[in-house]
Amino acid sequence: MAADTLTITDNRTGKLYEVPITDDTIRALDLRQIKVKDDDFGMMTYDPAFMNTAACRSAITYIDGDRGLLRYRGYPIEQIADKATFLEVAYLLFEGELPNQAQLDKWTQDIRYHTYVHTNLIKFLEGYRYDAHPMGMLLGIVGGLSTFYPDAKDIEDPQNRYIQRIRLMAKLPTLAAFLFRHSRGLPYEFPRNDLDYIGNYVNMMFSIGGKHEPNPVLQRALEILLILHADHEQNCSTSAVRAVGSSGVDPFSAVSAGIAALYGPLHGGANEAVLRMLDDIGSKDRIPAFIDSVKAGHGRLMGFGHRVYKSYDPRAKLIKKVADDVFAQTGLNKKLEIALELERIALSDEYFIKRKLYPNVDFYSGLIYQAMGYPTDYFTVIFAIGRLPGWLAQWEEMINDKEQKIARPRQIYTGHDERPYVPREKRK
Ligand code: ACO
Repeated sequence: MAADTLTITDNRTGKLYEVPITDDTIRALDLRQIKVKDDDFGMMTYDPAFMNTAACRSAITYIDGDRGLLRYRGYPIEQIADKATFLEVAYLLFEGELPNQAQLDKWTQDIRYHTYVHTNLIKFLEGYRYDAHPMGMLLGIVGGLSTFYPDAKDIEDPQNRYIQRIRLMAKLPTLAAFLFRHSRGLPYEFPRNDLDYIGNYVNMMFSIGGKHEPNPVLQRALEILLILHADHEQNCSTSAVRAVGSSGVDPFSAVSAGIAALYGPLHGGANEAVLRMLDDIGSKDRIPAFIDSVKAGHGRLMGFGHRVYKSYDPRAKLIKKVADDVFAQTGLNKKLEIALELERIALSDEYFIKRKLYPNVDFYSGLIYQAMGYPTDYFTVIFAIGRLPGWLAQWEEMINDKEQKIARPRQIYTGHDERPYVPREKRK
Protein backbone atom coordinates (compact mmCIF):
# COMPACT_ATOMS: atom_id res chain seq x y z
CA MET A 1 0.00 0.00 0.00
CA ALA A 2 1.51 3.39 -1.01
CA ALA A 3 2.57 5.55 1.95
CA ASP A 4 1.07 8.75 0.55
CA THR A 5 -2.47 7.44 0.54
CA LEU A 6 -5.42 7.39 2.88
CA THR A 7 -7.22 4.10 3.46
CA ILE A 8 -10.91 4.41 4.18
CA THR A 9 -13.09 1.59 5.44
CA ASP A 10 -16.78 1.98 4.70
CA ASN A 11 -18.40 0.23 7.63
CA ARG A 12 -21.71 0.11 5.77
CA THR A 13 -20.25 -2.28 3.21
CA GLY A 14 -16.90 -3.36 4.69
CA LYS A 15 -15.17 -2.15 1.52
CA LEU A 16 -11.70 -0.56 1.63
CA TYR A 17 -10.75 2.43 -0.49
CA GLU A 18 -7.31 3.91 -1.09
CA VAL A 19 -7.24 7.63 -1.81
CA PRO A 20 -4.08 9.57 -2.84
CA ILE A 21 -2.79 12.33 -0.52
CA THR A 22 -1.11 15.38 -2.05
CA ASP A 23 -0.04 18.39 0.06
CA ASP A 24 -1.76 16.82 3.11
CA THR A 25 -5.00 16.96 1.16
CA ILE A 26 -7.32 14.45 -0.45
CA ARG A 27 -9.49 15.27 -3.42
CA ALA A 28 -13.17 15.39 -2.53
CA LEU A 29 -14.03 13.82 -5.90
CA ASP A 30 -12.00 10.72 -4.95
CA LEU A 31 -14.68 10.02 -2.33
CA ARG A 32 -17.38 9.68 -4.96
CA GLN A 33 -16.31 6.08 -5.62
CA ILE A 34 -17.57 5.24 -2.10
CA LYS A 35 -21.05 3.85 -2.62
CA VAL A 36 -23.40 1.34 -1.04
CA LYS A 37 -25.22 0.57 -4.30
CA ASP A 38 -23.81 0.98 -7.81
CA ASP A 39 -26.37 3.63 -8.72
CA ASP A 40 -25.71 5.75 -5.56
CA PHE A 41 -24.44 9.28 -6.19
CA GLY A 42 -21.35 8.52 -4.10
CA MET A 43 -19.94 10.10 -0.95
CA MET A 44 -19.59 13.87 -0.60
CA THR A 45 -17.98 16.05 2.06
CA TYR A 46 -20.12 18.50 4.02
CA ASP A 47 -18.29 21.72 4.86
CA PRO A 48 -20.52 24.73 5.50
CA ALA A 49 -18.50 27.99 5.40
CA PHE A 50 -15.52 26.10 3.89
CA MET A 51 -13.91 25.50 7.26
CA ASN A 52 -11.62 22.78 5.92
CA THR A 53 -11.87 22.78 2.15
CA ALA A 54 -9.24 24.11 -0.26
CA ALA A 55 -10.99 25.39 -3.38
CA CYS A 56 -7.85 26.24 -5.36
CA ARG A 57 -4.08 26.03 -5.48
CA SER A 58 -2.57 29.48 -5.07
CA ALA A 59 0.99 30.88 -5.13
CA ILE A 60 0.07 34.41 -4.06
CA THR A 61 -0.29 34.69 -0.29
CA TYR A 62 0.84 32.43 2.52
CA ILE A 63 -0.73 32.57 5.98
CA ASP A 64 0.16 30.53 9.04
CA GLY A 65 -2.66 31.43 11.39
CA ASP A 66 -1.20 29.68 14.43
CA ARG A 67 2.16 31.40 14.15
CA GLY A 68 0.75 34.75 12.98
CA LEU A 69 2.67 34.73 9.65
CA LEU A 70 1.65 36.53 6.47
CA ARG A 71 3.74 36.58 3.28
CA TYR A 72 3.06 38.00 -0.18
CA ARG A 73 4.78 35.84 -2.81
CA GLY A 74 7.14 34.65 -0.08
CA TYR A 75 8.08 38.07 1.30
CA PRO A 76 7.20 38.66 4.99
CA ILE A 77 4.54 41.33 5.41
CA GLU A 78 6.74 43.17 7.95
CA GLN A 79 9.48 43.74 5.32
CA ILE A 80 7.02 44.62 2.58
CA ALA A 81 5.16 47.14 4.77
CA ASP A 82 8.45 48.69 5.83
CA LYS A 83 10.02 49.08 2.40
CA ALA A 84 7.65 48.78 -0.56
CA THR A 85 5.21 51.16 -2.19
CA PHE A 86 1.60 50.10 -2.76
CA LEU A 87 2.09 49.92 -6.54
CA GLU A 88 5.19 47.72 -6.11
CA VAL A 89 3.13 45.39 -3.92
CA ALA A 90 0.32 45.30 -6.48
CA TYR A 91 2.86 44.43 -9.20
CA LEU A 92 4.36 41.73 -6.96
CA LEU A 93 0.95 40.16 -6.35
CA PHE A 94 0.10 40.12 -10.09
CA GLU A 95 3.43 39.20 -11.59
CA GLY A 96 4.95 37.07 -8.83
CA GLU A 97 8.16 39.13 -8.58
CA LEU A 98 9.07 42.60 -7.37
CA PRO A 99 9.44 44.98 -10.34
CA ASN A 100 12.82 46.34 -11.42
CA GLN A 101 12.96 50.11 -11.99
CA ALA A 102 11.98 49.92 -15.68
CA GLN A 103 9.05 47.59 -14.92
CA LEU A 104 7.88 49.79 -12.06
CA ASP A 105 8.12 52.91 -14.24
CA LYS A 106 5.98 51.32 -16.96
CA TRP A 107 3.45 49.97 -14.46
CA THR A 108 3.16 53.35 -12.71
CA GLN A 109 2.89 55.20 -16.02
CA ASP A 110 0.21 52.82 -17.38
CA ILE A 111 -1.90 53.36 -14.26
CA ARG A 112 -1.35 57.12 -14.26
CA TYR A 113 -2.60 57.27 -17.86
CA HIS A 114 -5.98 55.74 -16.92
CA THR A 115 -6.99 57.66 -13.78
CA TYR A 116 -9.77 59.66 -15.46
CA VAL A 117 -13.28 58.20 -15.53
CA HIS A 118 -15.98 58.73 -18.14
CA THR A 119 -17.98 61.79 -17.08
CA ASN A 120 -21.22 59.82 -17.43
CA LEU A 121 -20.17 58.05 -14.24
CA ILE A 122 -20.72 61.34 -12.42
CA LYS A 123 -24.36 61.25 -13.56
CA PHE A 124 -24.53 57.76 -12.10
CA LEU A 125 -23.25 59.05 -8.77
CA GLU A 126 -25.69 61.90 -8.79
CA GLY A 127 -28.53 59.39 -8.86
CA TYR A 128 -27.58 58.24 -5.38
CA ARG A 129 -29.20 59.90 -2.36
CA TYR A 130 -27.03 62.25 -0.29
CA ASP A 131 -26.92 59.70 2.55
CA ALA A 132 -26.22 56.61 0.41
CA HIS A 133 -23.67 54.30 2.04
CA PRO A 134 -20.30 54.69 0.25
CA MET A 135 -19.90 50.91 -0.14
CA GLY A 136 -23.35 50.63 -1.75
CA MET A 137 -22.37 53.37 -4.19
CA LEU A 138 -18.98 51.80 -4.85
CA LEU A 139 -20.27 48.33 -5.66
CA GLY A 140 -22.88 49.80 -8.00
CA ILE A 141 -20.53 52.11 -9.82
CA VAL A 142 -17.75 49.54 -10.24
CA GLY A 143 -20.28 47.04 -11.62
CA GLY A 144 -21.47 49.85 -13.90
CA LEU A 145 -17.92 50.26 -15.27
CA SER A 146 -18.38 46.99 -17.15
CA THR A 147 -20.89 48.76 -19.41
CA PHE A 148 -18.27 51.38 -20.30
CA TYR A 149 -15.72 48.73 -21.25
CA PRO A 150 -17.54 45.97 -23.13
CA ASP A 151 -14.13 44.80 -24.43
CA ALA A 152 -13.49 43.53 -20.88
CA LYS A 153 -15.67 40.52 -21.70
CA ASP A 154 -12.76 39.02 -23.64
CA ILE A 155 -11.22 37.44 -20.58
CA GLU A 156 -9.26 34.87 -22.59
CA ASP A 157 -6.79 37.45 -23.91
CA PRO A 158 -3.97 38.19 -21.39
CA GLN A 159 -3.24 41.60 -22.94
CA ASN A 160 -6.91 42.54 -22.62
CA ARG A 161 -6.91 41.38 -18.98
CA TYR A 162 -3.86 43.60 -18.37
CA ILE A 163 -5.70 46.65 -19.71
CA GLN A 164 -8.75 46.00 -17.50
CA ARG A 165 -6.47 45.49 -14.49
CA ILE A 166 -4.82 48.85 -15.20
CA ARG A 167 -8.22 50.50 -15.60
CA LEU A 168 -9.47 49.17 -12.29
CA MET A 169 -6.29 50.05 -10.40
CA ALA A 170 -6.30 53.55 -11.91
CA LYS A 171 -10.00 54.36 -11.63
CA LEU A 172 -10.96 52.89 -8.24
CA PRO A 173 -9.28 55.72 -6.24
CA THR A 174 -10.91 58.30 -8.53
CA LEU A 175 -14.36 56.78 -8.04
CA ALA A 176 -13.74 56.37 -4.31
CA ALA A 177 -12.86 60.05 -4.02
CA PHE A 178 -15.78 61.14 -6.22
CA LEU A 179 -18.33 59.29 -4.11
CA PHE A 180 -16.91 60.90 -0.96
CA ARG A 181 -17.29 64.33 -2.58
CA HIS A 182 -20.80 63.43 -3.68
CA SER A 183 -21.72 62.57 -0.06
CA ARG A 184 -20.35 65.91 1.08
CA GLY A 185 -21.86 67.92 -1.77
CA LEU A 186 -18.37 69.05 -2.77
CA PRO A 187 -17.30 69.66 -6.38
CA TYR A 188 -15.32 66.78 -7.87
CA GLU A 189 -11.56 67.15 -7.89
CA PHE A 190 -10.12 65.54 -11.02
CA PRO A 191 -7.00 63.34 -11.02
CA ARG A 192 -3.63 65.05 -11.02
CA ASN A 193 -1.18 62.94 -12.88
CA ASP A 194 1.83 64.84 -11.56
CA LEU A 195 1.13 63.23 -8.15
CA ASP A 196 1.89 59.65 -7.11
CA TYR A 197 -0.88 57.06 -6.57
CA ILE A 198 -1.51 57.88 -2.90
CA GLY A 199 -0.90 61.62 -3.27
CA ASN A 200 -3.36 61.84 -6.14
CA TYR A 201 -6.05 59.95 -4.21
CA VAL A 202 -5.65 62.08 -1.08
CA ASN A 203 -5.71 65.23 -3.20
CA MET A 204 -8.95 64.16 -4.92
CA MET A 205 -10.44 63.54 -1.46
CA PHE A 206 -9.42 66.63 0.44
CA SER A 207 -8.40 69.36 -2.00
CA ILE A 208 -10.56 72.48 -1.66
CA GLY A 209 -10.47 75.03 -4.43
CA GLY A 210 -7.56 73.13 -6.00
CA LYS A 211 -5.49 73.44 -2.80
CA HIS A 212 -4.33 70.70 -0.45
CA GLU A 213 -1.20 70.61 1.69
CA PRO A 214 0.03 67.00 1.66
CA ASN A 215 1.20 65.46 4.94
CA PRO A 216 3.91 62.89 4.01
CA VAL A 217 3.60 61.00 7.34
CA LEU A 218 -0.16 60.52 6.93
CA GLN A 219 0.24 59.59 3.26
CA ARG A 220 2.84 56.91 4.06
CA ALA A 221 0.59 55.66 6.90
CA LEU A 222 -2.28 55.33 4.43
CA GLU A 223 0.02 53.54 1.98
CA ILE A 224 1.06 51.04 4.66
CA LEU A 225 -2.60 50.38 5.49
CA LEU A 226 -3.33 49.70 1.81
CA ILE A 227 -0.33 47.34 1.65
CA LEU A 228 -1.51 45.45 4.74
CA HIS A 229 -4.90 44.94 3.11
CA ALA A 230 -3.61 44.05 -0.37
CA ASP A 231 -4.28 40.31 -0.21
CA HIS A 232 -5.31 37.72 2.33
CA GLU A 233 -5.69 34.52 0.33
CA GLN A 234 -9.17 32.94 0.16
CA ASN A 235 -11.13 35.34 2.38
CA CYS A 236 -14.85 36.00 1.87
CA SER A 237 -14.53 38.81 -0.71
CA THR A 238 -11.74 37.10 -2.67
CA SER A 239 -13.77 33.89 -2.75
CA ALA A 240 -16.68 35.99 -4.04
CA VAL A 241 -14.50 37.44 -6.82
CA ARG A 242 -13.29 33.96 -7.75
CA ALA A 243 -16.77 32.40 -7.59
CA VAL A 244 -18.43 35.14 -9.64
CA GLY A 245 -15.42 35.35 -11.98
CA SER A 246 -15.59 31.59 -12.55
CA SER A 247 -18.77 32.16 -14.57
CA GLY A 248 -16.62 33.95 -17.15
CA VAL A 249 -18.01 37.42 -16.41
CA ASP A 250 -15.82 40.53 -16.92
CA PRO A 251 -13.50 41.64 -14.07
CA PHE A 252 -15.52 44.80 -13.24
CA SER A 253 -18.54 42.65 -12.37
CA ALA A 254 -16.42 40.12 -10.46
CA VAL A 255 -14.72 42.89 -8.45
CA SER A 256 -18.07 44.46 -7.68
CA ALA A 257 -19.09 41.13 -6.10
CA GLY A 258 -15.92 41.34 -3.99
CA ILE A 259 -16.90 44.85 -2.88
CA ALA A 260 -20.36 43.56 -1.90
CA ALA A 261 -18.81 40.81 0.23
CA LEU A 262 -16.38 43.25 1.83
CA TYR A 263 -19.28 45.54 2.80
CA GLY A 264 -20.51 43.06 5.44
CA PRO A 265 -19.80 43.75 9.15
CA LEU A 266 -18.14 40.37 9.64
CA HIS A 267 -15.60 41.18 6.92
CA GLY A 268 -14.38 44.64 5.80
CA GLY A 269 -17.30 46.41 7.43
CA ALA A 270 -15.83 45.47 10.82
CA ASN A 271 -13.61 48.59 10.93
CA GLU A 272 -16.75 50.73 10.78
CA ALA A 273 -18.42 48.53 13.39
CA VAL A 274 -15.43 48.94 15.73
CA LEU A 275 -15.83 52.71 15.73
CA ARG A 276 -19.56 52.44 16.40
CA MET A 277 -18.83 50.00 19.23
CA LEU A 278 -16.27 52.41 20.77
CA ASP A 279 -18.85 55.19 20.53
CA ASP A 280 -21.43 53.01 22.27
CA ILE A 281 -19.01 52.12 25.07
CA GLY A 282 -18.29 55.83 25.49
CA SER A 283 -15.83 55.73 28.40
CA LYS A 284 -13.22 53.41 29.91
CA ASP A 285 -15.25 52.72 33.07
CA ARG A 286 -17.99 51.11 30.94
CA ILE A 287 -15.62 48.55 29.36
CA PRO A 288 -16.06 45.78 31.99
CA ALA A 289 -19.88 45.89 31.58
CA PHE A 290 -19.47 45.77 27.79
CA ILE A 291 -17.13 42.76 27.98
CA ASP A 292 -19.62 40.99 30.28
CA SER A 293 -22.43 41.56 27.77
CA VAL A 294 -20.31 40.15 24.91
CA LYS A 295 -19.48 37.09 27.02
CA ALA A 296 -23.18 36.66 27.75
CA GLY A 297 -23.76 36.42 23.99
CA HIS A 298 -25.04 39.97 23.36
CA GLY A 299 -23.06 40.98 20.28
CA ARG A 300 -19.37 40.56 19.53
CA LEU A 301 -16.21 42.43 20.35
CA MET A 302 -15.77 43.86 16.86
CA GLY A 303 -12.22 43.86 15.51
CA PHE A 304 -11.43 40.70 17.48
CA GLY A 305 -11.21 37.15 16.20
CA HIS A 306 -10.34 35.71 12.83
CA ARG A 307 -11.18 32.56 10.91
CA VAL A 308 -7.50 31.87 10.20
CA TYR A 309 -5.39 33.69 12.82
CA LYS A 310 -5.44 31.98 16.16
CA SER A 311 -2.74 34.27 17.50
CA TYR A 312 -2.11 38.00 17.06
CA ASP A 313 -2.92 39.09 13.49
CA PRO A 314 0.51 40.25 12.15
CA ARG A 315 -1.22 43.12 10.35
CA ALA A 316 -2.74 44.34 13.62
CA LYS A 317 0.77 44.48 15.15
CA LEU A 318 1.99 46.63 12.25
CA ILE A 319 -1.11 48.81 12.37
CA LYS A 320 -0.42 49.66 16.00
CA LYS A 321 2.93 51.11 14.90
CA VAL A 322 1.19 53.09 12.15
CA ALA A 323 -1.29 54.38 14.76
CA ASP A 324 1.61 55.76 16.83
CA ASP A 325 2.92 57.72 13.80
CA VAL A 326 -0.53 59.02 12.93
CA PHE A 327 -1.54 60.03 16.45
CA ALA A 328 1.81 61.79 16.90
CA GLN A 329 0.64 64.04 14.05
CA THR A 330 -3.04 64.36 14.82
CA GLY A 331 -3.04 64.18 18.63
CA LEU A 332 -4.46 61.43 20.87
CA ASN A 333 -8.13 60.70 20.83
CA LYS A 334 -10.47 59.39 23.50
CA LYS A 335 -11.57 56.41 21.41
CA LEU A 336 -7.98 55.22 21.08
CA GLU A 337 -7.68 55.19 24.85
CA ILE A 338 -10.88 53.13 25.10
CA ALA A 339 -9.57 50.76 22.39
CA LEU A 340 -6.22 50.24 24.15
CA GLU A 341 -7.95 49.49 27.44
CA LEU A 342 -10.48 47.22 25.73
CA GLU A 343 -7.66 45.26 24.12
CA ARG A 344 -5.79 44.98 27.43
CA ILE A 345 -8.85 43.68 29.28
CA ALA A 346 -9.92 41.29 26.50
CA LEU A 347 -6.44 39.79 26.11
CA SER A 348 -6.36 38.90 29.80
CA ASP A 349 -9.92 37.53 29.93
CA GLU A 350 -10.42 33.76 30.01
CA TYR A 351 -13.29 33.90 27.45
CA PHE A 352 -11.09 35.46 24.75
CA ILE A 353 -7.95 33.48 25.69
CA LYS A 354 -9.78 30.16 25.49
CA ARG A 355 -11.22 30.96 22.05
CA LYS A 356 -7.91 32.42 20.79
CA LEU A 357 -9.51 35.75 20.00
CA TYR A 358 -6.96 38.49 19.26
CA PRO A 359 -7.27 41.92 17.63
CA ASN A 360 -7.53 41.66 13.85
CA VAL A 361 -6.59 44.19 11.18
CA ASP A 362 -9.80 46.12 11.71
CA PHE A 363 -9.42 46.84 15.42
CA TYR A 364 -7.16 49.89 14.98
CA SER A 365 -7.52 50.72 11.27
CA GLY A 366 -10.81 52.62 11.73
CA LEU A 367 -9.31 54.79 14.46
CA ILE A 368 -6.48 55.71 12.12
CA TYR A 369 -8.80 56.50 9.21
CA GLN A 370 -10.89 58.67 11.48
CA ALA A 371 -7.86 60.58 12.71
CA MET A 372 -6.89 61.15 9.07
CA GLY A 373 -10.29 62.76 8.40
CA TYR A 374 -12.24 59.92 6.73
CA PRO A 375 -15.87 59.49 7.83
CA THR A 376 -16.81 56.24 9.57
CA ASP A 377 -19.04 54.85 6.83
CA TYR A 378 -16.20 55.41 4.33
CA PHE A 379 -13.56 53.18 6.00
CA THR A 380 -14.41 50.04 4.05
CA VAL A 381 -13.96 51.93 0.77
CA ILE A 382 -10.29 52.39 1.69
CA PHE A 383 -10.09 48.68 2.47
CA ALA A 384 -11.48 48.00 -1.02
CA ILE A 385 -8.78 50.18 -2.65
CA GLY A 386 -6.20 48.20 -0.71
CA ARG A 387 -7.69 44.78 -1.51
CA LEU A 388 -8.16 45.41 -5.24
CA PRO A 389 -4.71 44.06 -6.27
CA GLY A 390 -5.42 40.87 -4.33
CA TRP A 391 -8.82 40.39 -5.97
CA LEU A 392 -7.36 40.92 -9.42
CA ALA A 393 -4.30 38.73 -8.84
CA GLN A 394 -6.52 35.90 -7.57
CA TRP A 395 -8.91 36.37 -10.50
CA GLU A 396 -5.97 36.18 -12.93
CA GLU A 397 -4.62 33.08 -11.19
CA MET A 398 -8.03 31.44 -11.41
CA ILE A 399 -8.32 32.13 -15.13
CA ASN A 400 -4.90 30.58 -15.76
CA ASP A 401 -5.69 27.53 -13.62
CA LYS A 402 -6.76 24.72 -15.94
CA GLU A 403 -8.34 22.82 -13.05
CA GLN A 404 -10.87 25.56 -12.33
CA LYS A 405 -14.43 25.42 -13.63
CA ILE A 406 -17.55 27.37 -12.82
CA ALA A 407 -17.90 27.35 -9.00
CA ARG A 408 -20.84 25.23 -8.05
CA PRO A 409 -21.06 23.71 -4.54
CA ARG A 410 -23.14 20.63 -3.79
CA GLN A 411 -25.89 20.46 -1.17
CA ILE A 412 -27.51 17.91 1.07
CA TYR A 413 -31.18 18.15 0.24
CA THR A 414 -33.32 18.27 3.41
CA GLY A 415 -36.71 19.16 1.91
CA HIS A 416 -39.85 17.14 1.09
CA ASP A 417 -39.91 14.00 -1.02
CA GLU A 418 -41.94 14.24 -4.21
CA ARG A 419 -45.58 15.23 -3.47
CA PRO A 420 -48.55 16.16 -5.67
CA TYR A 421 -49.37 19.84 -6.31
CA VAL A 422 -52.19 21.11 -4.05
CA PRO A 423 -54.86 23.24 -5.81
CA ARG A 424 -55.36 26.67 -4.15
CA GLU A 425 -58.88 25.88 -2.79
CA LYS A 426 -57.64 22.72 -1.06
CA ARG A 427 -54.72 24.34 0.80
CA LYS A 428 -54.98 24.67 4.59
N1 ACO B 1 -16.35 38.57 20.12
C1 ACO B 1 -16.84 37.64 20.99
N2 ACO B 1 -16.85 36.31 20.75
C2 ACO B 1 -16.35 35.91 19.57
C3 ACO B 1 -15.82 36.81 18.62
C4 ACO B 1 -15.82 38.17 18.94
N3 ACO B 1 -15.34 39.08 18.10
N4 ACO B 1 -15.40 36.11 17.54
C5 ACO B 1 -15.65 34.83 17.80
N5 ACO B 1 -16.21 34.69 19.02
C6 ACO B 1 -16.57 33.45 19.70
C7 ACO B 1 -17.84 32.86 19.12
O1 ACO B 1 -18.99 33.30 19.81
C8 ACO B 1 -17.59 31.38 19.32
O2 ACO B 1 -17.80 31.09 20.66
P1 ACO B 1 -18.46 29.66 21.10
O3 ACO B 1 -17.42 28.63 20.69
O4 ACO B 1 -18.67 29.77 22.55
O5 ACO B 1 -19.73 29.54 20.30
C9 ACO B 1 -16.08 31.24 19.05
O6 ACO B 1 -15.53 32.51 19.42
C10 ACO B 1 -15.74 30.91 17.61
O7 ACO B 1 -16.37 31.87 16.77
P2 ACO B 1 -16.85 31.60 15.28
O8 ACO B 1 -17.92 32.58 14.95
O9 ACO B 1 -17.11 30.15 15.10
O10 ACO B 1 -15.51 31.94 14.47
P3 ACO B 1 -15.42 32.21 12.92
O11 ACO B 1 -14.06 31.75 12.50
O12 ACO B 1 -16.60 31.66 12.19
O13 ACO B 1 -15.53 33.81 12.84
C11 ACO B 1 -15.06 36.09 12.66
C12 ACO B 1 -14.49 34.67 12.54
C13 ACO B 1 -16.27 36.26 11.71
C14 ACO B 1 -13.97 37.08 12.20
C15 ACO B 1 -15.47 36.35 14.13
O14 ACO B 1 -14.34 36.23 14.98
C16 ACO B 1 -16.13 37.72 14.32
O15 ACO B 1 -17.34 37.83 14.13
N6 ACO B 1 -15.34 38.76 14.71
C17 ACO B 1 -15.90 40.10 14.83
C18 ACO B 1 -16.02 40.76 13.47
C19 ACO B 1 -14.67 41.15 12.91
O16 ACO B 1 -13.85 41.75 13.58
N7 ACO B 1 -14.48 40.85 11.62
C20 ACO B 1 -13.25 41.21 10.89
C21 ACO B 1 -12.54 40.00 10.45
S1 ACO B 1 -11.00 40.40 9.73
C22 ACO B 1 -11.41 40.98 8.20
O17 ACO B 1 -12.36 40.66 7.58
C23 ACO B 1 -10.49 41.94 7.64
